[in-house]
Amino acid sequence: MDGLMTGNYKRTRYCGEFTAKDIGSYVCVMGWTQRQRDLGSLIFIDLRDRSGIIQLAFDENTDAVIFKKAFGIRAEYVLCAKGFVRARAEGAVNLSRATGEIEIAVDELNILSAAETPPFEITENSDVRMELRLKHRYLDLRRPDLQRNIMARSKITKLTRDFFADNGFVDIETPNLIKPTPEGARDYLVPSRIHPGNFYALPQSPQIYKQLLMLAGFDRYMQIARCYRDEDLRADRQPEFTQIDLEMSFVNQDDIFYIIEHYLKYLFKEFKDIDLEIPLLRIPYQEAMERFGSDKPDLRFGFELVNISEAVKNCGFKVFAGTVASGGSVRGINITDGADKFSRKEIDALTEFVKTYNAKGLAWYKNLNGEISSSYAKFLTDKENETVNTALNIREGDIAFIVADNDNVVFNSLGALRNNIAKKLKLTNPSEYKLLWVTDFPLLEYSEEDKRYVSKHHPFTMPVAEDIPFLETDPEKVRSIAYDIVINGTEAGGGSIRIHKAEIQSKIFDVLGLTKQEANDKFGFLLEAFKYGTPPHGGFAFGLDRLTALLLGLEDIRDVIAFPKVQNASELMTKSPAPADKKSLDELGIAVVKKEESIS
Ligand code: AMO
Ligand code: AMP
Repeated sequence: MDGLMTGNYKRTRYCGEFTAKDIGSYVCVMGWTQRQRDLGSLIFIDLRDRSGIIQLAFDENTDAVIFKKAFGIRAEYVLCAKGFVRARAEGAVNLSRATGEIEIAVDELNILSAAETPPFEITENSDVRMELRLKHRYLDLRRPDLQRNIMARSKITKLTRDFFADNGFVDIETPNLIKPTPEGARDYLVPSRIHPGNFYALPQSPQIYKQLLMLAGFDRYMQIARCYRDEDLRADRQPEFTQIDLEMSFVNQDDIFYIIEHYLKYLFKEFKDIDLEIPLLRIPYQEAMERFGSDKPDLRFGFELVNISEAVKNCGFKVFAGTVASGGSVRGINITDGADKFSRKEIDALTEFVKTYNAKGLAWYKNLNGEISSSYAKFLTDKENETVNTALNIREGDIAFIVADNDNVVFNSLGALRNNIAKKLKLTNPSEYKLLWVTDFPLLEYSEEDKRYVSKHHPFTMPVAEDIPFLETDPEKVRSIAYDIVINGTEAGGGSIRIHKAEIQSKIFDVLGLTKQEANDKFGFLLEAFKYGTPPHGGFAFGLDRLTALLLGLEDIRDVIAFPKVQNASELMTKSPAPADKKSLDELGIAVVKKEESIS
């Protein structure tokens, strides 16, 4: 029978779907060999497909021919097996497996495909090196946990499409070969053959097109959109990723929050059976920075930042007093009941950690069983120490960490320290969900690299009306109607109300340092479009990869992407990127300058 096409067989059901109710039925299953166990005159094969595993049983005394065939089967062979479902022998029942009470007594076996020994075993939660796994991603993807993740992602996209379709959103595709979009990251460029020397960019997001769709009158748009950004990768960043992208007309921020919150409520209920409480908490950007040292605060734990500048501005410790005198601040976090959890060695390690965020040091104060040790207490009077202790609410059993520097450094270092410590103390339970909106982001930030202001979100974001006068005098003070959704310390999505008036848009281009000519060259089509009747509009985009990872309690978005790239943006299986052949380059009019040559 070997070599028969599967087409001649009909699979009864997936392997993992059989139960004791099927005992006595004659069935046909297909899948991969998880393992083969040879017990003398008995052979058992665990057959795996995307649903789970079922045990196939072969008995030499019942059918020697099939038994012999089963004897030669190795891991990852692809099989088609037929037989009667029967109860396992007493003592052989495995209740940890859904099909653990039953097995199939095989009377017909077809080897559909043999397999070489795979470079790693296909098992759940494999600790095989990521590089090896990604090189053979098609094998890695056979692992049950990855299969579940990828299928969960498919379920999330289905729920997402259902929700937005039910709420009047039109699913519209936007182009992938576009004019460079200005969204902060570097573009991936695609050379044009027909227009030598000219390039398309891959979209960093469908931003401009979705706004034009509002001008076109579609009113509510959604797309599950591929986005491309040439930026440094981290666990939550890939060079190509997916957004759940939305835009709505005739709306204000509250209307957008309303629809997003109801989407999240629906998703959490359908996918996790969690009743999400809405409306979600809203925290303005400035408050988030002051309280958590981050614009994506993790609210699963406390340790809020406290500003002790006032208490220490006249103290005898130069690091503190000097920082306040030069316009910086001194802030600390109190790790309540943490005094016994940080040895000197660990404090030193944390000091090195905050230095990676440009802090110059880490001051600390420990009260362990009433015994005080501290890096700075000796420089302060009793009164000053008492004031600091009161401000930070340090009590017996607590340890506090303090950074003195400019606000940026203080926020970044203490914000990161806060997360780091919570992780160490295991306060970041991935199945507990804390969601919030962070609102009122600054419109602009100063780029030291470009020596000019750049948009914090993107240049189409509406400034808060009352702040518009500051655009010329104090640009950094201008807030925007931009918002993020933060889930457990991750920015899961963001959006804004857009500028829909050409004069405000031109003003923003001015502040961004674009001349009229540059603004016209880059966005002439958009400024032109605004002239023909533009509805007020705004939108939002979730990172689908991040949202899926969060809902599955995973930290690395590669675990929810079928074919991800590694840190240096290459794809190990197909070995991309790769050099192009000379003919293609010639057609494109491209000459490649070798790195060594360009450096010399
Ligand atoms: P933004 O740039 O904030 O907004 O992107 C929206 C969301 O996309 C996700 N994301 C990423 N996920 C994986 N890898 C990446 N490299 C990556 N970069 C971003 C994040 C982020 O919150 N056009 C606007 C949206 C709008 O204004 O409507 C935009 O792209 O979860
Ligand atoms: P020093 O006076 O350099 O011995 O520093 C005393 C303590 O202050 C040490 O624990 C340092 O890590 C800490 N320290 C130094 N600079 C800073 C700073 N900018 N912010 C907070 N602590 C600091």
